[in-house]
Amino acid sequence: MIATKELTSSNIKTPINISSKDFTYNKYAYYKWLREEAPVCKGKFAVVNLYLLSRYHDCVNMLKDSRFVRNRTTATGGSRMPFPVPKSVTLLSQSMIVEDEPAHRRLRNLVHKAFTPRALTQLEDRIEHLTHELLDQAEQQGKVDIKEAYALPIPVTVISEMVGVRDTDMEKFRTSMRVLTTGLSGWSLFRTLFWDMRSSSAFIRELIAYKRANPQDDILTALIQAEEEGDKLSEDELVSMVFLLIIAGYETTVHLITNSVVTLLQHPDQLARLRERPELLDSAIEEIMRYNGPVHGTKLGYAVEDVTLHGVTIPKGAAVMPLLGAANHDPAVFENPEVFDIARTPNRHLGFGQGIHYCLGAPLARLETRIALKNLLERSPNLQLTVAPEHLQLQNIPGWHRYERVSVMLR
Ligand code: HEM
Repeated sequence: MIATKELTSSNIKTPINISSKDFTYNKYAYYKWLREEAPVCKGKFAVVNLYLLSRYHDCVNMLKDSRFVRNRTTATGGSRMPFPVPKSVTLLSQSMIVEDEPAHRRLRNLVHKAFTPRALTQLEDRIEHLTHELLDQAEQQGKVDIKEAYALPIPVTVISEMVGVRDTDMEKFRTSMRVLTTGLSGWSLFRTLFWDMRSSSAFIRELIAYKRANPQDDILTALIQAEEEGDKLSEDELVSMVFLLIIAGYETTVHLITNSVVTLLQHPDQLARLRERPELLDSAIEEIMRYNGPVHGTKLGYAVEDVTLHGVTIPKGAAVMPLLGAANHDPAVFENPEVFDIARTPNRHLGFGQGIHYCLGAPLARLETRIALKNLLERSPNLQLTVAPEHLQLQNIPGWHRYERVSVMLR
């Protein structure tokens, strides 16, 4: 974990700005203070005011509570987004993750089969092969940014092949997605919203047109056929679905693989234990998800009525974010939460969310990360960071814990 400062009620300023660099670098100290002193606390996310929840049970309850909805219009009668955005952005943002039942179930049912552990077994060989190919290239350089050279191309390749992006479009696709997902904070957020999302939307529409004319064995073709068979998905819904799958499919896993490398290298005793007992790998991945996972908050939930919790009233229409990263360090649930223990049991972390929006791609993320780590650790017995962990830079993106780059020596 990145070093944190001591926070007390006298040096903390509310509302807590979760978009600030200070929060990004000291999030675990903020989480502790929030859990102990202000379990329902006012916060700010860019221009949006919200309430932050930080205790494990409060987060779980909120994610299962029908008094909180994802569709902002249901709670407020206003627009879907909390601030004005171009139509293309609204369309891209209307996917299952911001829908409530029954609209959510309808969309999720259309794709869930592609992501079951059984459906994924056929991907194992492909991922094995891909990871070895990437390691062959990386080893020739010796010193690499493990995120760029290894953690990123694995999920990008896998999700784009699953969805059905053509080889010839891969470069365009990667550039378009890269721009989108690095521009989520500060001023670049506006460029992302007003320009890059438009071009990504156009790219996905072209891809849909191509698949209509050239059906193949992939998720996009299956979605188009479902649409044509039973009036299941409109063109706009199709675009949103593809956008969500692509973004969720890799933007998360790249950081789980990267965070895994950092966390294991920061804990040499646990890394040695894992090397000695490779059967602990699955459990180690769950502990990395808990201790230093990539996703620290969910999409916003909106209160459909006044809700009072720990003496604080969250007014009807207000936005709420459960801080999964804070919940995952809650001592009420996890014994010695600040200890990184790759054999921890039980480990009911919230890194993949909870309730109806529980991560659809969790089996895929686990599979990719397991193969990626196994092959990296086997082939690099002397894997090392080239900078001290406290000098690693974080990306300033609310709701995430992601490193800018992680330079390592492979041999
Ligand atoms: C380490 C990797 C991953 C992490 C940490 C992660 C985390 C999460 C979390 C926390 C949620 C709940 C968000 C919320 O409630 O607002 C979620 C939902 C979702 N994830 Fe993942 N995810 C990962 C990988 C993937 C992959 C590989 C896919 C594949 C497409 C995927 C697809 C989705 C989708 C579609 C949802 C929305 C589900 C729904 O609304 O019913 N995720 N993920």
